[in-house]
Amino acid sequence: MTKSGPVPDESRLLSGHPMNPKNSIVYPKLNSNEWILFNTSGTSAIGPWGTSFAANLTPDETGIGSWTLAQFTRAMREGKSKGLENGRPLLPPMPTIGYKELTDNELKAMIRYLKSIQPIENIVPAPILR
Ligand code: HEM
Repeated sequence: MTKSGPVPDESRLLSGHPMNPKNSIVYPKLNSNEWILFNTSGTSAIGPWGTSFAANLTPDETGIGSWTLAQFTRAMREGKSKGLENGRPLLPPMPTIGYKELTDNELKAMIRYLKSIQPIENIVPAPILR
């Protein structure tokens, strides 16, 4: 967060909600039916579903390092966590509904890009459901 608002931190590109044990964050116990509230890093949101945390999409083992194209496709098109058949439904604000019609080629290009970026070790916390 800067004076003029949030700016991307390239050193943590697409690594999700930062989980730094030395700088552990206390999550507010807020419930919201009327609002969706984002934290200042834009990696966590509180809404009617509870609190969710942006996933680590880097090619580290704590991200999508071991994911296959089939897993990525299932996560994106079917909104399933880890792209597993029995994965829980992905929560907002991940806009799964808008990604159902991504083509095979688009998905291939996306995973190829994600696998090419800097791997960042970051274990993202599980969502807190209401
Ligand atoms: C093309 C753009 C995007 C791609 C490729 C993408 C990819 C993914 C993938 C693969 C997951 C599942 C990770 C896992 O199961 O470990 C995920 C989760 C998530 N994404 Fe996205 N995403 C995109 C856009 C967005 C946007 C625009 C937002 C928010 C404004 C968002 C927020 C989230 C959140 C909060 C989660 C975690 C959901 C949960 O834990 O249930 N994503 N994303």
